[in-house]
Amino acid sequence: MSRIVYVNGEYVPEEEAKVSIFDRGFLFADAVYEVTAVLDGKILEWEGHVNRLERSLGELGMTMPVTRDELLEIHRELIRRNTLDQGGIYLQVTRGVADRDFAFPKDTPETLVLFTQARNLTDPKDGIKVISAPDIRWQRRDIKTVQLLAPSMTKMLAKKAGKDDAWMVEDGYVTEGTSNNAYIVTEDGTIVTRNLSNSILHGITRAAVLKLVAEQGIKLEERPFTVEEAKKAKEAFFTAATAFVCSVLEVDNVTIGDGKPGPIATRLNDIYIEEARKAAI
Ligand code: PDD
Repeated sequence: MSRIVYVNGEYVPEEEAKVSIFDRGFLFADAVYEVTAVLDGKILEWEGHVNRLERSLGELGMTMPVTRDELLEIHRELIRRNTLDQGGIYLQVTRGVADRDFAFPKDTPETLVLFTQARNLTDPKDGIKVISAPDIRWQRRDIKTVQLLAPSMTKMLAKKAGKDDAWMVEDGYVTEGTSNNAYIVTEDGTIVTRNLSNSILHGITRAAVLKLVAEQGIKLEERPFTVEEAKKAKEAFFTAATAFVCSVLEVDNVTIGDGKPGPIATRLNDIYIEEARKAAI
């Protein structure tokens, strides 16, 4: 069934949606995006996503193409028109259409595109296997740009090795997964995840899960960790709006814990779903 998507003020069947070949998102990856989870036909973590979108745009000298309220309404309309129960909404804002020039164009209206993706978010998860790989991305990973070739190539290294994802490494320390934030649990039950900086994306699920970690009285250290530490961890997991909290069962062919989804990740995922559901709008 064809989806109804949103392009610059219009809701159209996906086959009819069009963006110019001169769009700077296409020519320069001059664009930012968000992926917002949907559960029970409702939006999760709205404030977090819209705040991060505004920040990403601001860092690139762009502005919101519509108001926050209008954007929320577009999300809701897409959920209605596509009868989306579980999944996500992808949103992209580009600097708009202009003849090819490295300098930013002046006063060009932004391009705004949104579409839905149905995805099961609540079934128990099997966990994934990761490899480590060099982080070859640029230095502003805190901005959620659509320059995703480096993580895409890195993900393919994992696929070629028969694994699910890669934990990217810079200066000897794990930055994050190709499209998620990375965590380990030490022998004494402390959760370790990299501190926020320009080296990683400031995950919205990360922020929500770390709040739950504090509420649950679980010890937390926000600092970089090595692949060697990960291999010795009691548990490992990742977070993202597309999976919530999901266990990592293997790092570079080394089994983590007993090779099954760990109790901390499983509990955090359950609590996260419960809390996010309550707060969904
Ligand atoms: N990716 N780190 C990176 C590099 C990411 O691309 C993502 C999200 C995250 C997790 O952020 P959040 O919790 O806000 O989803 C961390 C999205 C889901 C994607 O590209 O599909």
